[in-house]
Amino acid sequence: MSETGSRKLAAHAATSGLPGQRVICETSDELIDRLAGDIQEVAKLRVEAAGAFHLALSGGSTPQALYRRLMVDPTYRNLPWDRTHLWLVDERCVNENDDRLNFNMIRELIVDHSDIPASHVHPMPVLEADGDRQYESDLRHHLENDEARSRLDLILLGMGADGHTASLFPQTPALTETRRWVRFNDGDTVADPRPRMTMTYPLINAARRIAVLVTDQNKHATLQHVNATAASGPDVQRYPITGVRPTHESAWMMWYLDYPAALGPGQTEP
Ligand code: 6PG
Repeated sequence: MSETGSRKLAAHAATSGLPGQRVICETSDELIDRLAGDIQEVAKLRVEAAGAFHLALSGGSTPQALYRRLMVDPTYRNLPWDRTHLWLVDERCVNENDDRLNFNMIRELIVDHSDIPASHVHPMPVLEADGDRQYESDLRHHLENDEARSRLDLILLGMGADGHTASLFPQTPALTETRRWVRFNDGDTVADPRPRMTMTYPLINAARRIAVLVTDQNKHATLQHVNATAASGPDVQRYPITGVRPTHESAWMMWYLDYPAALGPGQTEP
């Protein structure tokens, strides 16, 4: 078997405990293409079926190349942005001029280059005392009033090296939320800047499609722990990403991984 073939097998074997399915690519370029193609396809299907596409995006550094590709590559330019509602998975509670605001990055990379109507762009009102409740009621207003029926169409998540996802950090109050869709979250484990506002498991897990993008060798050890929970069961307090599991049978969860994340140090791109 070729070296590429055996690395592919090794990468799949090393991640076989992850819930859902996996796309594992040798290069980050290939990985981004796969994910961009999947987002485009789901967007078209949802617009055909329901007239709108509800997409929730994460911040952080990993998805930035994807956001750029979506806007720059002609292959993806026909994504129906004019029918898309753009939601934030989580946000840092800082003022609107702060570079660390996830929305500023998303606005710069996506919103400013698309024909998405202003009323379809939903930044989190992080400076309002009841901003979490306002965001949830905005979500409910849009999701319950159309065919989407209380579900996001696609949510893009990342994973921190500590196992957090969205702004659901280890040992924090939002991890035990069973009803509310959005909450402020804080605690010693929450990375700066804090506090945060975050979507919670009830909303995340109800999504039609859950995509988790994890790249880089610094995520490998955590990914191995998460992989091991297939046998031991989710360990939400320690590795919050293990609480992400679709609640609907028809939903899919897809991990988008590169070789360094799946196989560890030494797996550089060719
Ligand atoms: C954020 C996120 C967060 C992110 C992970 C991974 O606002 O930071 O939404 O959950 O996805 O921290 O971040 P990196 O991609 O920067 O490693």
